Amino acid sequence: MVTLELDHVVKHYRGPGENVRAVDGVSLTVNKGEMVALHGPSGSGKTTLLLLIAALLKPERGVIRYQGREVSSLSEQDASEHLRRNIGFIYQNPHLMPRVSAVENASMKLLLGGVGMREACRQAASWLERVGLGDRLKHTPAELSGGERQRVAIARALVADPQLILADEPTGNLDSARSRHVVNLLHNIARETGASVLLVTHDADAAAGADRRCALRDGKLVEHTVRHQLQGAAPSELPSATGVTSTGTD
Ligand SMILES: Nc1ncnc2c1ncn2[C@@H]1O[C@H](COP(=O)(O)OP(=O)(O)OP(=O)(O)O)[C@@H](O)[C@H]1O
Ligand SMILES: [Mg+2]
Repeated sequence: MVTLELDHVVKHYRGPGENVRAVDGVSLTVNKGEMVALHGPSGSGKTTLLLLIAALLKPERGVIRYQGREVSSLSEQDASEHLRRNIGFIYQNPHLMPRVSAVENASMKLLLGGVGMREACRQAASWLERVGLGDRLKHTPAELSGGERQRVAIARALVADPQLILADEPTGNLDSARSRHVVNLLHNIARETGASVLLVTHDADAAAGADRRCALRDGKLVEHTVRHQLQGAAPSELPSATGVTSTGTD
């Protein structure tokens, strides 16, 4: 079953000088319970694509549907409801609230959804344990390392059991063991809960763990590889459906 559908989506940024065509006619579907890895060089449009799916940006052209409902033309209020209810967004630059503890940061979405403080903190603590921060619940962001802050942001995104997880470089600050743990966690969530995961990553091992791998270049989808092609291949040998190979800039 298709959860997410992008049909010829285009997004420009209008600057004082030239226009940037950040996303240039992308069509993509993600199924229920599927994890799709998205990679590509810096500036290729990965973050922009996730922001469009989360309805934090509107496309100039094309349609984005979540569970059959068009999200690309939602009102501001319906767009924030879509983000709160359906999406767990792990931002590339996660901003935690500086003065409150890890567990309070991670519980924020539940509190906004009307869950009481005690229950929200209980659920947030359990997610922090799942990302290896069970002994850091009361620490404020300033008392945590960069990788620990990133894991608080992961717990914050996952705490409300979102059906669509948009993970923008969630392992950027993590060592390889922690990265593997986070990627496995996302994959297990997809398998167990039927959530769909779109994982932006520069990490070839993380990409190889996904069910499908896509690449963006200059805003265009240039490569699409399915899991049976990935299995058994070393990350450096991963095949390219279109013959476009990585430049090493990503
Ligand atoms: N708010 C903005 N205004 C103008 N241009 C922007 C804006 N945000 C992004 N861009 C431009 O759009 C293009 C795509 O940016 P985007 O952040 O989506 O890339 P990315 O693939 O996520 O890169 P990275 O791997 O470095 O995070 C880039 O050329 C970038 O400079
Ligand atoms: Mg980005």
